[in-house]
Amino acid sequence: MNEIKLFCPATIANISCGFDVLGVALDAVGDEMVIRKTKKKGIRITKLEGQDLPVETHLNVAGVAGMALLEHVDYEGGFEIEIYKRIKAGSGIGSSAASSAGAVWGINELLGKPFSKADLVKFAMEGERLASGVAHADNVAPSLFGGFTLVRSYDPLDIVSIPSPSELYATVIHPQIEVKTSDSRKILKTNITLADGIKQWGNVGGLIAGLFYEDYDLIGRSLVDHIVEPIRSILIPGYGAIKSGSLEAGALGCGISGSGPSIFAFSKGKATAEKVAHTMKEVYQKIGVDYDVHVSKINTLGIKILD
Ligand code: HSE
Repeated sequence: MNEIKLFCPATIANISCGFDVLGVALDAVGDEMVIRKTKKKGIRITKLEGQDLPVETHLNVAGVAGMALLEHVDYEGGFEIEIYKRIKAGSGIGSSAASSAGAVWGINELLGKPFSKADLVKFAMEGERLASGVAHADNVAPSLFGGFTLVRSYDPLDIVSIPSPSELYATVIHPQIEVKTSDSRKILKTNITLADGIKQWGNVGGLIAGLFYEDYDLIGRSLVDHIVEPIRSILIPGYGAIKSGSLEAGALGCGISGSGPSIFAFSKGKATAEKVAHTMKEVYQKIGVDYDVHVSKINTLGIKILD
């Protein structure tokens, strides 16, 4: 195989209570990439459509993640990458992660899979380091593994796959503003109180248990963030109205997607998820904010090959 075409899913990181450790992959939105072997060593980004992003290998997240992989393999040739961005940069649904994860997943396939998915997470994290200044894994892990993932530990890296209840749907609304992850990390406090810690890790445990038991009410009760949401929500127009409207429309819970500005809600069943989308749209239409909205099943496969 000399060439591969991929779908690289968007992801929701944090999932309210799990800052930097929880993430989930989406079905309805993702980037496409074409990766092909070349005789020339190294990596070149030969096409980048859909977003205004750098194509120089060392400035592009796919280039940097791919180079991190190539440093660990004895390979004579190189790779060309075409990136068709469908996920907007700075939207909060894992745009840099999709490109980073796609590059390393595709290169690994073309090399005959010398690396495990856990290895690929490490390489893809270098793309995240370039994008946000921090090599967080909570977007690249679900993009590579599919479904829900937990980063149990960063050192050593330990990724745990969590099952996805079959009727769980996500609604994501993206107000058309860009929030850079690096900026929205700078405003966070670096210390938390023990009281907030107790509430937060109770919810992380509750969410994981809810996903295992397919207990939708427990999932909903656990979608609470005492630490990051109060600070970051200030950057998101209409956040309070979107959240209260989503819960009234039947969502299990609602929170900031990754570092924002996208807002996500989980619902049991597609009909409720669509009702939530309708309510979210109404809020932004009323206050005059442009938006994109997605209703999506959980993507349990992660990155996949397109024909
Ligand atoms: N955990 C990261 C953050 C995710 O919230 O900064 C960024 O998508």
